[in-house]
Amino acid sequence: MRTQVGIVGAGPAGLMLSHLLQRAGIDSIVIENRSNQYIEHRVRAGVIEHWAREFLIETGVGARLEREGLIHRGVNFAFAGNLHEIDFQALVGRGITIYGQQEVVKDLVAARLAAGGAILFEAAGASVHDFDTDKPKIRFTRGGRAETIDCDFIAGCDGFHGVSRPSVPAGVLTTYDRVYPFGWLGILSQSPPPNKELIYAFHERGFALYSMREPMVSRLYIQCDPDDDADNWPDAKIWEELHLRLGGTAKLVEGKVMQKSVTPMRAFVTEPMQYKRLFLAGDAAHIVPPTGAKGMNLAIADVRVLARALDGFYREQRSDLLEAYSATCLKRVWKAQRFSYWMTMMLHRLNRENDFDLRRQLAELDYVTSSKAAATSLAENYVGLPFE
Ligand code: PHB
Repeated sequence: MRTQVGIVGAGPAGLMLSHLLQRAGIDSIVIENRSNQYIEHRVRAGVIEHWAREFLIETGVGARLEREGLIHRGVNFAFAGNLHEIDFQALVGRGITIYGQQEVVKDLVAARLAAGGAILFEAAGASVHDFDTDKPKIRFTRGGRAETIDCDFIAGCDGFHGVSRPSVPAGVLTTYDRVYPFGWLGILSQSPPPNKELIYAFHERGFALYSMREPMVSRLYIQCDPDDDADNWPDAKIWEELHLRLGGTAKLVEGKVMQKSVTPMRAFVTEPMQYKRLFLAGDAAHIVPPTGAKGMNLAIADVRVLARALDGFYREQRSDLLEAYSATCLKRVWKAQRFSYWMTMMLHRLNRENDFDLRRQLAELDYVTSSKAAATSLAENYVGLPFE
Protein backbone atom coordinates (compact mmCIF):
# COMPACT_ATOMS: atom_id res chain seq x y z
CA MET A 1 0.00 0.00 0.00
CA ARG A 2 1.14 3.52 -0.73
CA THR A 3 -0.24 6.87 0.40
CA GLN A 4 0.99 10.39 1.11
CA VAL A 5 0.17 10.53 4.83
CA GLY A 6 -0.13 7.36 6.91
CA ILE A 7 -2.28 8.00 9.98
CA VAL A 8 -2.16 5.79 13.06
CA GLY A 9 -5.40 5.94 15.05
CA ALA A 10 -9.04 6.64 14.18
CA GLY A 11 -9.98 8.96 17.02
CA PRO A 12 -10.99 12.59 16.49
CA ALA A 13 -7.40 13.63 15.61
CA GLY A 14 -6.69 10.92 13.02
CA LEU A 15 -10.11 11.03 11.38
CA MET A 16 -10.27 14.82 11.23
CA LEU A 17 -6.76 14.97 9.80
CA SER A 18 -7.69 12.46 7.10
CA HIS A 19 -10.82 14.50 6.34
CA LEU A 20 -8.92 17.81 6.11
CA LEU A 21 -6.22 16.26 3.92
CA GLN A 22 -8.78 14.89 1.53
CA ARG A 23 -10.27 18.38 1.20
CA ALA A 24 -6.78 19.62 0.29
CA GLY A 25 -6.36 16.85 -2.29
CA ILE A 26 -3.87 14.88 -0.18
CA ASP A 27 -4.14 11.12 0.09
CA SER A 28 -4.11 9.35 3.44
CA ILE A 29 -4.80 5.94 4.98
CA VAL A 30 -5.97 5.62 8.58
CA ILE A 31 -5.22 2.45 10.51
CA GLU A 32 -6.97 1.62 13.76
CA ASN A 33 -6.52 -1.39 16.01
CA ARG A 34 -10.10 -1.39 17.30
CA SER A 35 -13.30 -2.08 15.38
CA ASN A 36 -15.55 0.59 13.90
CA GLN A 37 -18.25 -0.43 16.42
CA TYR A 38 -15.82 0.08 19.32
CA ILE A 39 -14.57 3.56 18.38
CA GLU A 40 -18.07 4.82 17.62
CA HIS A 41 -19.28 3.89 21.10
CA ARG A 42 -16.31 4.89 23.23
CA VAL A 43 -17.77 7.40 25.73
CA ARG A 44 -15.66 10.52 26.22
CA ALA A 45 -16.28 14.15 27.11
CA GLY A 46 -18.66 16.25 25.08
CA VAL A 47 -17.80 19.95 25.11
CA ILE A 48 -17.00 21.57 21.76
CA GLU A 49 -15.42 25.00 21.79
CA HIS A 50 -16.98 27.73 19.69
CA TRP A 51 -14.28 27.79 16.97
CA ALA A 52 -14.25 23.96 16.80
CA ARG A 53 -17.99 23.94 16.15
CA GLU A 54 -17.55 26.50 13.35
CA PHE A 55 -14.61 24.57 11.95
CA LEU A 56 -16.51 21.25 11.85
CA ILE A 57 -19.42 22.97 10.11
CA GLU A 58 -17.22 24.91 7.67
CA THR A 59 -15.36 21.74 6.65
CA GLY A 60 -18.56 19.82 5.97
CA VAL A 61 -18.81 17.48 8.96
CA GLY A 62 -21.07 19.56 11.19
CA ALA A 63 -24.58 18.96 9.82
CA ARG A 64 -25.70 16.60 12.60
CA LEU A 65 -23.82 18.63 15.21
CA GLU A 66 -25.81 21.66 14.07
CA ARG A 67 -29.08 19.75 14.37
CA GLU A 68 -28.44 17.75 17.53
CA GLY A 69 -25.71 19.56 19.46
CA LEU A 70 -26.96 21.49 22.48
CA ILE A 71 -25.84 25.12 22.44
CA HIS A 72 -25.01 26.42 25.90
CA ARG A 73 -24.52 30.07 26.77
CA GLY A 74 -22.44 29.27 29.84
CA VAL A 75 -21.93 26.95 32.79
CA ASN A 76 -22.91 26.97 36.47
CA PHE A 77 -20.86 26.62 39.60
CA ALA A 78 -22.46 25.18 42.74
CA PHE A 79 -20.81 25.82 46.09
CA ALA A 80 -21.77 26.73 49.65
CA GLY A 81 -25.40 25.90 48.91
CA ASN A 82 -25.80 28.31 45.95
CA LEU A 83 -25.82 28.03 42.18
CA HIS A 84 -24.00 30.72 40.15
CA GLU A 85 -24.22 31.05 36.39
CA ILE A 86 -21.32 32.29 34.29
CA ASP A 87 -22.84 33.54 31.05
CA PHE A 88 -20.12 33.13 28.40
CA GLN A 89 -22.32 34.56 25.69
CA ALA A 90 -22.82 37.81 27.63
CA LEU A 91 -19.15 38.00 28.66
CA VAL A 92 -17.33 37.09 25.46
CA GLY A 93 -20.06 36.75 22.82
CA ARG A 94 -19.52 33.04 22.28
CA GLY A 95 -20.83 29.82 23.82
CA ILE A 96 -20.09 26.09 23.66
CA THR A 97 -21.81 23.07 22.15
CA ILE A 98 -22.51 19.83 23.99
CA TYR A 99 -22.10 16.93 21.57
CA GLY A 100 -20.44 13.65 22.58
CA GLN A 101 -16.98 12.94 21.24
CA GLN A 102 -18.17 9.62 19.85
CA GLU A 103 -20.80 11.50 17.82
CA VAL A 104 -18.00 13.53 16.21
CA VAL A 105 -16.20 10.24 15.53
CA LYS A 106 -19.34 8.75 13.90
CA ASP A 107 -19.76 11.82 11.69
CA LEU A 108 -16.10 11.73 10.64
CA VAL A 109 -16.16 7.99 9.87
CA ALA A 110 -19.30 8.50 7.79
CA ALA A 111 -17.72 11.41 5.90
CA ARG A 112 -14.49 9.51 5.23
CA LEU A 113 -16.29 6.40 4.01
CA ALA A 114 -18.68 8.44 1.83
CA ALA A 115 -15.66 10.11 0.19
CA GLY A 116 -14.06 6.72 -0.49
CA GLY A 117 -11.47 7.26 2.26
CA ALA A 118 -9.50 4.32 3.62
CA ILE A 119 -9.93 3.49 7.31
CA LEU A 120 -8.47 0.09 8.08
CA PHE A 121 -10.12 -1.12 11.27
CA GLU A 122 -8.80 -4.02 13.36
CA ALA A 123 -5.23 -3.46 12.19
CA ALA A 124 -3.14 -5.26 14.82
CA GLY A 125 0.40 -4.74 16.03
CA ALA A 126 1.05 -1.45 14.24
CA SER A 127 4.62 -0.17 14.18
CA VAL A 128 6.17 2.93 12.59
CA HIS A 129 9.51 2.88 10.75
CA ASP A 130 12.03 4.95 8.78
CA PHE A 131 10.49 8.31 9.64
CA ASP A 132 14.03 9.69 9.83
CA THR A 133 14.12 9.21 6.03
CA ASP A 134 11.77 10.50 3.35
CA LYS A 135 10.28 7.02 2.99
CA PRO A 136 8.50 6.22 6.27
CA LYS A 137 6.58 2.97 6.65
CA ILE A 138 3.78 1.69 8.83
CA ARG A 139 3.56 -2.06 9.38
CA PHE A 140 0.67 -4.02 10.86
CA THR A 141 -1.29 -7.22 10.42
CA ARG A 142 -4.86 -7.44 9.35
CA GLY A 143 -6.97 -10.56 8.86
CA GLY A 144 -3.83 -12.62 9.48
CA ARG A 145 -1.80 -10.86 6.74
CA ALA A 146 1.27 -8.71 7.28
CA GLU A 147 0.84 -5.33 5.57
CA THR A 148 3.05 -2.30 4.92
CA ILE A 149 2.03 1.25 4.07
CA ASP A 150 4.72 3.32 2.35
CA CYS A 151 4.13 7.02 2.89
CA ASP A 152 5.75 10.47 2.90
CA PHE A 153 4.73 11.34 6.46
CA ILE A 154 3.33 9.54 9.47
CA ALA A 155 0.78 11.16 11.78
CA GLY A 156 0.74 9.50 15.20
CA CYS A 157 -2.84 10.07 16.34
CA ASP A 158 -2.88 6.92 18.45
CA GLY A 159 -3.52 8.34 21.90
CA PHE A 160 -1.55 8.40 25.09
CA HIS A 161 -0.91 4.62 25.07
CA GLY A 162 -0.19 4.44 21.32
CA VAL A 163 2.94 3.14 19.59
CA SER A 164 3.97 6.35 17.81
CA ARG A 165 5.42 8.42 20.66
CA PRO A 166 7.51 5.56 22.16
CA SER A 167 8.96 4.91 18.68
CA VAL A 168 10.84 8.22 18.72
CA PRO A 169 14.52 7.58 19.58
CA ALA A 170 15.43 8.02 23.24
CA GLY A 171 16.57 11.49 24.20
CA VAL A 172 14.68 13.37 21.50
CA LEU A 173 11.48 14.14 23.37
CA THR A 174 11.14 15.84 26.72
CA THR A 175 8.01 14.96 28.61
CA TYR A 176 6.31 16.96 31.32
CA ASP A 177 3.65 15.43 33.48
CA ARG A 178 1.58 15.76 36.56
CA VAL A 179 -0.51 12.99 38.04
CA TYR A 180 -3.44 14.31 40.07
CA PRO A 181 -4.29 12.43 43.28
CA PHE A 182 -7.86 11.73 42.19
CA GLY A 183 -9.98 10.33 39.40
CA TRP A 184 -13.46 10.81 38.01
CA LEU A 185 -16.15 8.18 38.22
CA GLY A 186 -18.44 8.87 35.26
CA ILE A 187 -21.90 7.56 34.48
CA LEU A 188 -24.40 7.96 31.69
CA SER A 189 -27.93 7.96 33.07
CA GLN A 190 -31.31 7.84 31.45
CA SER A 191 -32.63 10.92 33.19
CA PRO A 192 -32.88 14.65 32.54
CA PRO A 193 -29.93 16.74 33.79
CA PRO A 194 -30.57 18.91 36.88
CA ASN A 195 -30.01 22.11 34.89
CA LYS A 196 -30.21 23.03 31.20
CA GLU A 197 -26.49 23.84 31.36
CA LEU A 198 -23.54 22.17 33.09
CA ILE A 199 -23.06 22.36 36.84
CA TYR A 200 -19.53 22.17 38.26
CA ALA A 201 -20.04 21.48 41.97
CA PHE A 202 -17.47 22.10 44.68
CA HIS A 203 -18.24 20.29 47.93
CA GLU A 204 -16.25 19.23 50.96
CA ARG A 205 -17.06 15.60 50.05
CA GLY A 206 -15.41 16.17 46.67
CA PHE A 207 -16.10 17.54 43.21
CA ALA A 208 -19.08 16.56 41.04
CA LEU A 209 -20.08 17.52 37.50
CA TYR A 210 -23.61 17.41 36.08
CA SER A 211 -23.51 17.32 32.30
CA MET A 212 -25.70 15.80 29.60
CA ARG A 213 -25.84 14.32 26.14
CA GLU A 214 -29.49 14.60 25.19
CA PRO A 215 -32.51 16.14 26.92
CA MET A 216 -33.15 12.77 28.61
CA VAL A 217 -29.56 11.55 29.01
CA SER A 218 -27.30 12.88 31.77
CA ARG A 219 -23.54 12.53 31.96
CA LEU A 220 -22.53 12.75 35.62
CA TYR A 221 -19.15 12.57 37.33
CA ILE A 222 -17.87 12.44 40.90
CA GLN A 223 -14.35 12.84 42.23
CA CYS A 224 -13.02 9.49 43.46
CA ASP A 225 -9.65 7.90 44.17
CA PRO A 226 -7.40 7.60 41.11
CA ASP A 227 -7.17 3.80 41.40
CA ASP A 228 -10.78 3.36 42.43
CA ASP A 229 -12.81 0.66 40.69
CA ALA A 230 -16.26 1.29 39.24
CA ASP A 231 -17.28 -1.95 41.02
CA ASN A 232 -16.81 -0.16 44.36
CA TRP A 233 -19.64 2.15 43.34
CA PRO A 234 -23.11 0.57 43.34
CA ASP A 235 -25.68 2.86 41.71
CA ALA A 236 -27.30 3.79 45.05
CA LYS A 237 -23.97 5.06 46.40
CA ILE A 238 -23.33 7.15 43.27
CA TRP A 239 -26.75 8.79 43.48
CA GLU A 240 -26.30 9.48 47.18
CA GLU A 241 -23.00 11.29 46.50
CA LEU A 242 -24.44 13.16 43.52
CA HIS A 243 -27.31 14.43 45.69
CA LEU A 244 -25.00 15.42 48.55
CA ARG A 245 -22.47 17.20 46.35
CA LEU A 246 -25.16 19.13 44.49
CA GLY A 247 -25.99 20.47 47.94
CA GLY A 248 -29.62 21.32 47.24
CA THR A 249 -28.71 23.84 44.52
CA ALA A 250 -30.79 22.00 41.88
CA LYS A 251 -33.11 19.02 41.66
CA LEU A 252 -31.47 15.79 40.56
CA VAL A 253 -33.64 13.07 39.03
CA GLU A 254 -32.27 9.52 39.21
CA GLY A 255 -32.34 7.28 36.17
CA LYS A 256 -31.14 3.96 34.82
CA VAL A 257 -27.32 3.88 34.78
CA MET A 258 -26.18 2.85 31.30
CA GLN A 259 -22.41 3.17 31.61
CA LYS A 260 -19.97 3.50 34.50
CA SER A 261 -16.19 3.95 34.48
CA VAL A 262 -13.28 5.54 36.36
CA THR A 263 -10.79 7.86 34.63
CA PRO A 264 -7.57 8.74 36.46
CA MET A 265 -6.60 12.38 36.09
CA ARG A 266 -3.29 13.35 34.62
CA ALA A 267 -1.65 16.07 32.63
CA PHE A 268 1.09 15.31 30.14
CA VAL A 269 2.95 17.16 27.37
CA THR A 270 5.70 15.99 25.06
CA GLU A 271 8.06 18.45 23.42
CA PRO A 272 8.52 18.68 20.55
CA MET A 273 5.44 17.06 19.01
CA GLN A 274 7.42 16.01 15.98
CA TYR A 275 10.50 14.02 15.05
CA LYS A 276 11.59 14.24 11.40
CA ARG A 277 8.66 12.83 9.40
CA LEU A 278 6.64 11.61 12.38
CA PHE A 279 4.09 14.10 13.73
CA LEU A 280 2.20 13.51 16.98
CA ALA A 281 -1.30 14.93 17.41
CA GLY A 282 -3.99 14.84 20.11
CA ASP A 283 -3.56 12.58 23.14
CA ALA A 284 -0.43 11.00 21.64
CA ALA A 285 1.26 14.35 22.34
CA HIS A 286 -0.62 15.72 25.35
CA ILE A 287 -3.23 14.82 27.96
CA VAL A 288 -5.27 17.32 29.96
CA PRO A 289 -7.44 16.60 33.00
CA PRO A 290 -11.12 16.70 31.91
CA THR A 291 -12.06 19.60 34.21
CA GLY A 292 -11.45 22.15 31.45
CA ALA A 293 -13.12 19.99 28.76
CA LYS A 294 -10.24 20.64 26.37
CA GLY A 295 -9.10 17.17 25.17
CA MET A 296 -10.92 16.82 21.86
CA ASN A 297 -10.65 20.54 21.14
CA LEU A 298 -6.86 20.36 21.36
CA ALA A 299 -6.84 17.32 19.08
CA ILE A 300 -8.84 19.20 16.45
CA ALA A 301 -6.59 22.27 16.86
CA ASP A 302 -3.45 20.14 16.30
CA VAL A 303 -4.68 18.56 13.08
CA ARG A 304 -5.91 21.89 11.78
CA VAL A 305 -2.32 23.15 12.04
CA LEU A 306 -0.89 19.91 10.65
CA ALA A 307 -3.26 19.75 7.67
CA ARG A 308 -2.34 23.33 6.70
CA ALA A 309 1.35 22.57 7.03
CA LEU A 310 1.07 19.46 4.87
CA ASP A 311 -0.97 21.42 2.33
CA GLY A 312 1.85 24.02 2.20
CA PHE A 313 4.36 21.23 1.67
CA TYR A 314 2.53 19.55 -1.21
CA ARG A 315 1.11 22.64 -2.86
CA GLU A 316 4.03 25.06 -2.53
CA GLN A 317 6.96 22.83 -1.56
CA ARG A 318 7.37 24.77 1.66
CA SER A 319 8.55 23.04 4.81
CA ASP A 320 8.47 26.04 7.17
CA LEU A 321 4.92 25.30 8.31
CA LEU A 322 5.83 21.69 9.06
CA GLU A 323 8.88 22.86 10.98
CA ALA A 324 6.71 25.24 12.99
CA TYR A 325 4.03 22.60 13.72
CA SER A 326 5.18 21.72 17.20
CA ALA A 327 5.83 25.27 18.40
CA THR A 328 2.52 26.48 16.97
CA CYS A 329 0.53 23.72 18.71
CA LEU A 330 2.41 23.87 22.01
CA LYS A 331 1.47 27.49 22.63
CA ARG A 332 -2.17 26.49 22.67
CA VAL A 333 -1.51 23.22 24.50
CA TRP A 334 0.22 24.92 27.43
CA LYS A 335 -2.53 27.51 27.74
CA ALA A 336 -5.05 24.66 27.87
CA GLN A 337 -2.88 22.92 30.49
CA ARG A 338 -2.82 26.08 32.53
CA PHE A 339 -6.58 26.51 32.36
CA SER A 340 -7.32 22.83 33.06
CA TYR A 341 -4.93 22.87 36.02
CA TRP A 342 -6.55 25.98 37.41
CA MET A 343 -10.10 24.57 37.04
CA THR A 344 -8.95 21.27 38.58
CA MET A 345 -7.30 22.90 41.58
CA MET A 346 -10.25 25.21 42.13
CA LEU A 347 -12.86 22.45 42.10
CA HIS A 348 -11.44 19.24 43.65
CA ARG A 349 -11.14 18.40 47.32
CA LEU A 350 -7.37 18.49 47.76
CA ASN A 351 -6.43 18.00 51.36
CA ARG A 352 -8.76 16.48 53.92
CA GLU A 353 -6.44 16.98 56.92
CA ASN A 354 -6.36 20.73 56.74
CA ASP A 355 -9.01 23.14 55.48
CA PHE A 356 -6.70 25.84 54.18
CA ASP A 357 -7.27 24.76 50.56
CA LEU A 358 -11.00 24.44 51.12
CA ARG A 359 -11.18 28.03 52.36
CA ARG A 360 -8.97 29.27 49.54
CA GLN A 361 -11.12 27.44 46.97
CA LEU A 362 -14.35 28.92 48.32
CA ALA A 363 -12.78 32.39 48.06
CA GLU A 364 -11.67 31.65 44.50
CA LEU A 365 -15.14 30.46 43.50
CA ASP A 366 -16.70 33.50 45.13
CA TYR A 367 -14.25 35.73 43.23
CA VAL A 368 -14.78 34.02 39.87
CA THR A 369 -18.56 34.16 40.14
CA SER A 370 -18.71 37.76 41.37
CA SER A 371 -15.95 39.58 39.50
CA LYS A 372 -16.64 40.37 35.86
CA ALA A 373 -12.89 40.41 35.12
CA ALA A 374 -12.37 36.94 36.61
CA ALA A 375 -15.50 35.51 34.98
CA THR A 376 -14.43 36.92 31.60
CA SER A 377 -11.06 35.20 31.87
CA LEU A 378 -12.77 31.90 32.64
CA ALA A 379 -15.24 32.42 29.79
CA GLU A 380 -12.63 33.23 27.13
CA ASN A 381 -10.64 30.13 28.02
CA TYR A 382 -13.65 27.83 28.31
CA VAL A 383 -15.16 28.76 24.93
CA GLY A 384 -11.70 28.37 23.37
CA LEU A 385 -8.88 30.88 22.89
CA PRO A 386 -8.68 32.51 19.48
CA PHE A 387 -6.13 31.31 16.93
CA GLU A 388 -3.27 33.62 16.13
C1 PHB B 1 -18.94 15.86 29.61
O1 PHB B 1 -20.07 16.27 29.26
O2 PHB B 1 -18.61 14.68 29.49
C2 PHB B 1 -17.97 16.81 30.20
C3 PHB B 1 -18.31 18.16 30.32
C4 PHB B 1 -17.41 19.05 30.89
C5 PHB B 1 -16.19 18.59 31.35
C6 PHB B 1 -15.84 17.26 31.22
C7 PHB B 1 -16.74 16.37 30.65
O3 PHB B 1 -15.32 19.46 31.92
